[in-house]
Amino acid sequence: MKILVTGGAGYIGSHATLALLDAGHEVVVLDNFSNSSPESLKRVGELAGREAVLVEGDVGDREALTQLFDDQEQISAVMHFAAFKAVGESTEKPLAYYNNNVGGSIALLEVMEEFEVRDLVFSSSCTVYGEPETVPIKEDHRVGAVSSPYGRTKFLVEMMLKDLCLSDPRWNAAILRYFNPVGAHASGRLGENPLGTPENLIPFICQVLAGKLEKLFVFGDDYPTSDGTCIRDYLHVMDLADAHLKALEKLSERPGAFFVNLGTGRGSTVLEVVKAFEVVTGKKVPREFANKRPGDVVEAWADPSLAKELLGWSTTRDLKEMISDAWRWQSENPRGYDT
Ligand code: WQD
Repeated sequence: MKILVTGGAGYIGSHATLALLDAGHEVVVLDNFSNSSPESLKRVGELAGREAVLVEGDVGDREALTQLFDDQEQISAVMHFAAFKAVGESTEKPLAYYNNNVGGSIALLEVMEEFEVRDLVFSSSCTVYGEPETVPIKEDHRVGAVSSPYGRTKFLVEMMLKDLCLSDPRWNAAILRYFNPVGAHASGRLGENPLGTPENLIPFICQVLAGKLEKLFVFGDDYPTSDGTCIRDYLHVMDLADAHLKALEKLSERPGAFFVNLGTGRGSTVLEVVKAFEVVTGKKVPREFANKRPGDVVEAWADPSLAKELLGWSTTRDLKEMISDAWRWQSENPRGYDT
């Protein structure tokens, strides 16, 4: 099939694009490079032995989208990754997040409708659950009590897709709620390439160990957990990419809108991640405890049973492999994609 991948030059998008090419699909990538580099797609082409078609443009630009659908006949489905994703930044620039993440999705959906392309895989996030009332988190856990504009944009697009599929049975949407994607393709050629100082734990520790940052600040040491630090469900980005292929297959059964948690079903504390880094790299992670980060939930990990039942998918890579692949990417690409 020919698949449009918005944000396909980004961290998750580039790994999903590689998985699609490896599975024999044709891929068209739309990306505005606001938080990504064309270099990632060059490397995807090297790894896959064939290229995705690249269209530089903005997912909110209806003219560019119409031109793309016009030029690229027979697009069968869309994987929609293009979005701003920094929780902290979203509180400083809420309008930019609503415009890009929600407005961009509306523009995409309207142009898809115009070209009668009605199958979508949507990149959502466990952040829509807010502070979970119960863990592990199942898909029927209440949603919407979200603590950031970023999370609210994800929740709003989820509701839009649900309403759209209810209004017109020709629409099908796989709404994938990622827990914490980490790691990199084992080749060391693709990886997470955050602009500026990383917000997220794994890339931050990688940069500390690479000597680019002085030390890790552990946000909070007295949470009600085994070691006082927050618990998250980290999953390997290649496992995540595989789930997208499975979700795409599921759309062909015309399921309407469905929601799936993507996680390992296992939680790790911040200190457990730090210790795993020290085992994998043989290096000490300099760190000190700091204040809790506003908006952080104490613990969040997935009940992955629906993904198994609905998609026949579960994770295959453990935390050590995630960290080993993340560290290889960091070590072999100290300047990310800046060659
Ligand atoms: C993990 C844990 C921090 C950095 C966010 C978004 C989510 C998704 C993934 C986009 C927390 C602690 C972190 C540091 C620390 N993003 N930490 N020191 O917040 O679970 O999820 O990123 O899709 O939607 O909400 O991930 O990696 O930022 O934090 O102690 O320097 O590590 O407090 O407990 P998070 P994270």
